[in-house]
Amino acid sequence: MKRLGVNIDHVATLRNARGGLHPNPIIVAKEAINFGADSITIHLREDRRHIKDIDLKKLTNTKIPINLEIACDYKMMNIALKNNPKFVCLVPEKRREITTEGGLNLDKYYKKIKFIVNKLNEKKIRTSLFINPTLKDILYSKRINTNCVEIHTGKISNLIKRKKNYSSELKKIKKCASYANSLGIEVHAGHGMDYKTTRILSKITEIKEFNIGHFIIGEAISIGLKNVIKKIKKSINK
Ligand code: PXP
Repeated sequence: MKRLGVNIDHVATLRNARGGLHPNPIIVAKEAINFGADSITIHLREDRRHIKDIDLKKLTNTKIPINLEIACDYKMMNIALKNNPKFVCLVPEKRREITTEGGLNLDKYYKKIKFIVNKLNEKKIRTSLFINPTLKDILYSKRINTNCVEIHTGKISNLIKRKKNYSSELKKIKKCASYANSLGIEVHAGHGMDYKTTRILSKITEIKEFNIGHFIIGEAISIGLKNVIKKIKKSINK
């Protein structure tokens, strides 16, 4: 069975828009697990634009398997070590980006990433590196000794959505997944996915985990309206 990690960052985005407590990411995380998600992903950004430190603390105090995404930074590493999530995924981070735009630069930050992965592994935290689908980055990942890689699926997702030819990107992802698997690295996929993209990518047997955020939360708002409107109509007509 392939696993699904639900990224709840945008529940926090919505909450922060009003500065209050609703919607509550902890409640949503529990609901997601009740409905079949295998883990919950949160990205604690350096600017704390959505998930806050208190969310991380509360979530890691539950039994929910938490996949914490952090930048390759020693301060963030120490936060991860202190909160002890089950999984950590290292991602590149730029202040001005709307979302994580690409994979890590493993060449430039090799030493730093290796150090952080080693520290996390020592604490038995499963490590993953968010990478572009290149064979070079798979080889770096092996040298860094990460448990998993998460292949950035933003490009293929965009091509599929825009009804463009995605076969060469799919080929690259397939090749990388197979190479990583042969080196004993577990393969995950993340970014920009929806129903169609997941159907296409799920044919790659080596991909064991899908981490999806924006589409799931957006779709929950769309198809969840029915129940909320029913409840509100009932309460205004009492
Ligand atoms: N995986 C990683 C490493 C990410 O950075 C993100 C975006 O925060 C996702 C998965 C989820 O992407 P999306 O919200 O587009 O589904």
